[in-house]
Amino acid sequence: MIIAIDGPAGSGKSTIAKFIAKKLNYRYIDTGAMYRAVAWSANNKGIDLDDENTVGEWVKELKIEFITHPEGQQVNVNGENATGLLKNEVVGRGAAKVAAQKTVRQILVAKQQEIGQAGNVVMDGRDIGTQVFPNAELKFFMDADAEERGKRRYLELKARNLDVDLENIIAEIKQRDHEDRTRTISPLIPADDAIKVDTTKFSIEEVIDKVMEQINLKQKS
Ligand code: C5P
Repeated sequence: MIIAIDGPAGSGKSTIAKFIAKKLNYRYIDTGAMYRAVAWSANNKGIDLDDENTVGEWVKELKIEFITHPEGQQVNVNGENATGLLKNEVVGRGAAKVAAQKTVRQILVAKQQEIGQAGNVVMDGRDIGTQVFPNAELKFFMDADAEERGKRRYLELKARNLDVDLENIIAEIKQRDHEDRTRTISPLIPADDAIKVDTTKFSIEEVIDKVMEQINLKQKS
């Protein structure tokens, strides 16, 4: 089975996706990390992220690997462990920029389809149910109020001892969402057949229960 989980930043999709993948013994693929890897590595290379042609050439050469570890997933970019370096809002904004570019999307979507074709995968992102796996057996679209999503991201970054400001995080998240929802190529929209879950007022456990209920129903059918 392929389980697609889409939604904006801080909607809870990766927490849920990781949990479910572990429970089902499926592979978890964080596609956001791939867009982040492009932005982070291109920036390190001194490439202007607005220079679509050069970013496009760069992404063709880039090697992104997911390595499963008992403590979590490691992302290697051209052989370098970049896991801890990708999850900040500066890289997030860069990712949103390159994610609006045609060549970047073509190459990363093809990689995601290749990884997922073996099945038994939980993949999260923005366009998994609409573009990457439109025939996925189960699709979820998670969402929550921007303030709540900002608060979650703030606590996540704070727990990693990063110096962050709640108002800034909320503003950045709103800006990134706006870019993701309004871009021309593969904007963030729920697939017609996605199960929508508003996580604003629910605990992680409650959302997991809702999602597992749907998975169990699917497995029985
Ligand atoms: O999920 P995450 O916050 O790590 O994603 C970073 C950015 O990558 C998103 O804001 C979005 O612009 C882009 N993205 C995308 N399609 C995906 C996953 C992420 O456009 N499937």
